[in-house]
Amino acid sequence: MLLSYHPKDMGSSRQPRKESVRLSVRTSTGSYPIEIADGSAGRLRATLDSVGVPARRFIVSSQTVWRFHGEDLQRAADEEPILLPDGERYKQLATVGRIYDALIRANADRASAIIAIGGGVTGDVAGFAAATYLRGIPIVQVPTTLLAQVDSAVGGKVGVNHPMGKNLIGAFHPPVAVVVDPSLLSTLPRREFRAGLYEVVKYGVIASRKLFERTAHDLNALFAREPAALLPVVSESCRIKAHIVEQDERESGLRRMLNFGHTAGHALEAITKYRRFLHGEAVAYGMLAAAELAATRGVLASADRDALAAHIMQMGPLPPVSDLSATDVIEATKRDKKVIAGRLHFVLPTAIGSATTVSDVSPEELTHALLAIGLKE
Ligand SMILES: NC(=O)c1ccc[n+]([C@@H]2O[C@H](COP(=O)([O-])OP(=O)(O)OC[C@H]3O[C@@H](n4cnc5c(N)ncnc54)[C@H](O)[C@@H]3O)[C@@H](O)[C@H]2O)c1
Ligand SMILES: [Zn+2]
Repeated sequence: MLLSYHPKDMGSSRQPRKESVRLSVRTSTGSYPIEIADGSAGRLRATLDSVGVPARRFIVSSQTVWRFHGEDLQRAADEEPILLPDGERYKQLATVGRIYDALIRANADRASAIIAIGGGVTGDVAGFAAATYLRGIPIVQVPTTLLAQVDSAVGGKVGVNHPMGKNLIGAFHPPVAVVVDPSLLSTLPRREFRAGLYEVVKYGVIASRKLFERTAHDLNALFAREPAALLPVVSESCRIKAHIVEQDERESGLRRMLNFGHTAGHALEAITKYRRFLHGEAVAYGMLAAAELAATRGVLASADRDALAAHIMQMGPLPPVSDLSATDVIEATKRDKKVIAGRLHFVLPTAIGSATTVSDVSPEELTHALLAIGLKE
């Protein structure tokens, strides 16, 4: 299947700077707003009131996020916050069970809502609890990592891991609102921030050369978490993700574009038992491999492949891959969820700003690309 995606360009940098951006995401059952503004987390209670979130609001957050931002955020809700231990290993059913326990103890009913405040782990776990508690109560996503702000908080996918694999248990449960406050990112460790930035680079490659160029140009200001640099990059990323999920809520076509870099990326995460790479770092290698493959096929100009490689290198160090075997990566891709009827769907960039999906990538081609980016045989 050939898919391509051409969104409207983001505004020119000469336009006066916007202080806030409001997007609307259509779903099969309605629509929800994404509010992006510096300081929006401080006004959370008023925002929840304005979008009609039920009065009994249960914040679900992580201990780390609460340590940094709890004082400001607890004003948004009267109920005792439900604080979860931190880390991907707690993205499991037992943690969802802790949320159910707290909700049941507090007699949370259908006139209750969950406010998820945290990274993608918190958003996915709290979202799954919201999708299933009493067959579904409303959820508001308040993402606090760059990855969550530009990716996981938008789109309605929620879920947890199983000991046998990542994200195997889940649901679609679109939020009633997403409140994005880029100023929350000031406390995020640099490596976590960079990992989120690779997903922004992904959006640039699949959908917007302008976003790609802006990210490269403003890199220092972004790492310094300057609001003037963050707001356009976060909002353009949300706009691209929103546009894609609106057209393909349940991943039958266009949404697969978002998997650019994720085929080899997931395999790299799996063969290193999720310990070596942050997700975005593995995706960075996955994008390099896909670009290499596309350039070898002749569907991507080598200048564009080089521009992507230069951008990724400019962003900072990645964990090493020279001890990892291309053969192991290929084996791991065969167990990927993106294998449909035995065929691996692969997203190839065709330029900086457009991509296509193919299902005829051979193991030899992928091996060649993996060796080219530094893996061993
Ligand atoms: N639902 C989706 O569509 C979707 C999409 C992409 C990724 N995901 C999921 O998202 C998860 C990864 O999310 P993540 O990268 O946000 O990881 P994460 O939620 O583990 O957060 C990373 C770390 O940053 C800390 N943190 C969060 N906000 C902070 C802040 N403002 N200041 C300081 N520290 C902060 C967290 O406590 C955690 O230790 C994965 O489980 C992935 O499967 C889901
Ligand atoms: Zn990703």
